[in-house]
Amino acid sequence: MRESVGKANGGSDEILARAGSTGVELRCLDASDAGYRARYAAECDGVTEDAEVRRIERRILACIRRSDYLGVVALDGERRIGHVEGDVRGTGLVISDIYVEEAYRSMGIGKRLLEAIIARASWRGATEVEFCTEADNLPMQRVGKRLGFILTRLHYERRLVD
Ligand SMILES: CC(C)(COP(=O)(O)OP(=O)(O)OC[C@H]1O[C@@H](n2cnc3c(N)ncnc32)[C@H](O)[C@@H]1OP(=O)(O)O)[C@@H](O)C(=O)NCCC(=O)NCCS
Repeated sequence: MRESVGKANGGSDEILARAGSTGVELRCLDASDAGYRARYAAECDGVTEDAEVRRIERRILACIRRSDYLGVVALDGERRIGHVEGDVRGTGLVISDIYVEEAYRSMGIGKRLLEAIIARASWRGATEVEFCTEADNLPMQRVGKRLGFILTRLHYERRLVD
């Protein structure tokens, strides 16, 4: 699979990367993607009511418009099949979400999404990047390791009620 990365800072229509054999393209996530993001967030939270989904969409739109927000969306033709998002805080990029639709997993799209957002953050002056994931999320850990991330923290939890 070959990839060509364009200008990391490009306008939202600009293709940031192409995954040759899958035909999947990456571009900057913008306001036109708020509906997709809202449906994804609603599904994650089990929200089905239209009014609530619209409320989520408004909240997401406000996020997308923040100056510290960065996002990249993966497209199979017109269809959005994944995304990555984060915030640039000072010189650090904090990844807040990454997702690839199940049928498209293990094709390198997650890795390419991360590479694309990191390239955009670097262009904005970020010098470090971090993400958190669950201890059992092996695919995400694998993507991180592939891209040179190292484990720096362990987070312990204990339930106080059954
Ligand atoms: C994490 C996620 C974005 C990765 O997307 P992807 O497009 O499949 O990522 P890639 O194809 O670039 O890489 C996946 C890697 O995980 C590996 N992998 C897949 N399933 C695995 C498993 N069950 N156990 C271990 N490794 C696994 C793949 O082999 C690949 O590693 P490799 O490149 O070294 O072979 C995707 O699995 C996803 O959307 N998961 C649900 C949402 C999620 O967990 N997001 C992360 C929250 S922090």
